[in-house]
Amino acid sequence: MTVTGSALITHVRPYGDGDPVDIAVVDGVITEIGQGLDAPEGAEIVDGGGGVLLPGFVDLHTHLREPGREDTETVASGSAAAARGGYTAVFAMANTAPVADNSTITDLVWRLGQEVGLVDVHPVGAVSVGLVGEQLAEMGMMAQGAARVRLFSDDGKCVHDPVLMKRALEYSTGLGVLISQHSEDPRLTVGAVAHDGPTAARLGLAGWPRAAEESIVARDALLARDAGARVHVAHASTAGTVELLKWARGQGIEITAEVTPHHLLLDDSRLETYDGVNKVNPPLREASDVEALRQALADGSVDCVATDHAPHASQEKCCEFSQARPGMLGLETALSIVVQTMVQPGLLDWRGVARVMSERPAAIVGLDDQGRPIAVGEPANLTIVDPDSHWTVRGDEMASRSRNTPYEEMTLPGVVQATVLRGRITAQRTSGDWT
Ligand code: DOR
Repeated sequence: MTVTGSALITHVRPYGDGDPVDIAVVDGVITEIGQGLDAPEGAEIVDGGGGVLLPGFVDLHTHLREPGREDTETVASGSAAAARGGYTAVFAMANTAPVADNSTITDLVWRLGQEVGLVDVHPVGAVSVGLVGEQLAEMGMMAQGAARVRLFSDDGKCVHDPVLMKRALEYSTGLGVLISQHSEDPRLTVGAVAHDGPTAARLGLAGWPRAAEESIVARDALLARDAGARVHVAHASTAGTVELLKWARGQGIEITAEVTPHHLLLDDSRLETYDGVNKVNPPLREASDVEALRQALADGSVDCVATDHAPHASQEKCCEFSQARPGMLGLETALSIVVQTMVQPGLLDWRGVARVMSERPAAIVGLDDQGRPIAVGEPANLTIVDPDSHWTVRGDEMASRSRNTPYEEMTLPGVVQATVLRGRITAQRTSGDWT
């Protein structure tokens, strides 16, 4: 059963527009928007402090590590991190142990998410059995199970075999689901640990060329065209991918894409220290790619932001660069990185933030209760942001079980003040601390 709540959210500016208003919520639904509203019966009160009110964020790409690596994250700790980040729905990737390639695992993750109740946890189903890229997983069983899986991905690995990818795309249209591809030609990235450019060459790191991503994006666009299917590009990282997305859309191909906060902020100059915290897949690219990705997110060529929140144990990060696991924490810092890279330079306004962090991701996967307008009669999945405050990132203060944030000790703009899931407060900052 879906749990709902009643609330009065005072003194907020929807989408950052106009004078502050109050929002009344009864049983998870917005019932009134106006000034000086009375609290509905049994309502929790949230003082919005004049902050910006946005639809709750939706993350199409999160690693929650349960089952299997509960030492690094659990559905509970990842849900808490998501709520603090302003998220009301996350998609939990399938590269768990065991792999989420069957409905027993996807339904387990779904049930755990419901029990925790801080964010809607939608399990992603694997495309191939065991993520080994040889045999299609039981996509239909997962789509029809309790979790109603709607997104499939072998993320961490590419569905490299074009015949398997073709078949997966054909099945996806029949099932009404979407494939999210980790675009990486594995033959071009054997042993690769960093972007294939001058920095990696100087540091003696094996290079991961842009073509390894772009060749798969181009191939998948053509496969989707022929299958009459939609396809989603996970963690787009190069300027060339942006050009391919534009070309494919121009052909009428139904292709969507996400970019991570780290690819919007960081480039491969970070690798100078050989610190494993900067290792990620796809790798941090060059400043010109970062700029192209920002422009693409602003003009809609890239649809949305997805965190690729990838918790890892410290022993898997604090080691020789080539041995470190790829991945970075993202849920608790995503909004601030978007503010720094997109809002402050004038590339996105708050309506734009709502679009790339909530509305587009919800629409891409067909969630009908997320990414909705802030209006009477709509579900109260909401986030309050203080646009003028800053905070300093400290891994050991995060809700995540892991500490691998690349933003340690950075002071970032934009503070999530509270998150509301169907009228229930799932995270709230009071005097700087989370309650
Ligand atoms: O950096 C990454 N880490 N990229 C991926 O695709 C997988 C992820 C992980 O699972 O750690």
